[in-house]
Amino acid sequence: MIKLTPRLKTIAEEIEKGETMADIGTDHGFLPIYLWEAGLCPKVIMADISRGSLSKADENCRSLHPETEFDLRLGSGLEVLSCGEVDSVVIAGMGGILMTEILGADVQKAWSFRKLILQPRNRIGQLRWWLYNNGFSISGEKLVREGKFICEVLTVVPKEMAVAGDLGPDDIEYEFPHKLIDFKNELTEEYLEKKLNLERLILGSMSEGRQEEPAKLRRQSYRVEYLEYLLGRLRNEN
Ligand SMILES: C[S@@+](CC[C@H](N)C(=O)[O-])C[C@H]1O[C@@H](n2cnc3c(N)ncnc32)[C@H](O)[C@@H]1O
Repeated sequence: MIKLTPRLKTIAEEIEKGETMADIGTDHGFLPIYLWEAGLCPKVIMADISRGSLSKADENCRSLHPETEFDLRLGSGLEVLSCGEVDSVVIAGMGGILMTEILGADVQKAWSFRKLILQPRNRIGQLRWWLYNNGFSISGEKLVREGKFICEVLTVVPKEMAVAGDLGPDDIEYEFPHKLIDFKNELTEEYLEKKLNLERLILGSMSEGRQEEPAKLRRQSYRVEYLEYLLGRLRNEN
């Protein structure tokens, strides 16, 4: 049986026994092969835009389970699926902006699945902003370590159209929402501390520069204060 990395294992834990799933950008195909092997998913679809990536998944399927015909699909994003074809769609290991493009290419189709499990490599603030403003809500947030990185795994469900707030995609509230505290684990404090240290460094170098606009300085101070507040809340609750 395939042994998943902690990141992929965390994603796998978001899928309930008996659900069908598709892995968009599957590459090696480890996650869907594992879910099928473990008897968790009766149907798995492996999809990728790259022929080379998909052939890695194909080779892994053939070498591990030569007797089984797996469902591999070549194409971009959700175009390989029909509406509601599976319960869960996983999109992992790519940038947050690319994820918004994949979901935004056919948002009606994206709404048709019961659940999306997203693990962005970057731009998580922009991704959360897009999700909230395109009728999705985040029902779960998990942090998991992968090498020197702490990765986020978002479980996302469709909801009625969200009301767009005053905040924009670059605002710190989308990058580090209060929900992170509700879904805290042993990595949350370190995750927030790292970001706070970075934002303090940026503030320090901005303060040294004579030309910096006051509005930009205020915005940067706010980012630091916001993270200090979140960390304070986390520590008070622990
Ligand atoms: C870094 S790999 C991630 C593999 C795996 N999902 C994981 O998390 O370990 C990213 C994969 O996404 C695929 N990809 C990039 N853009 C895509 C798109 N628009 N539709 C489907 N797959 C895409 C790439 O070809 C590549 O195989």
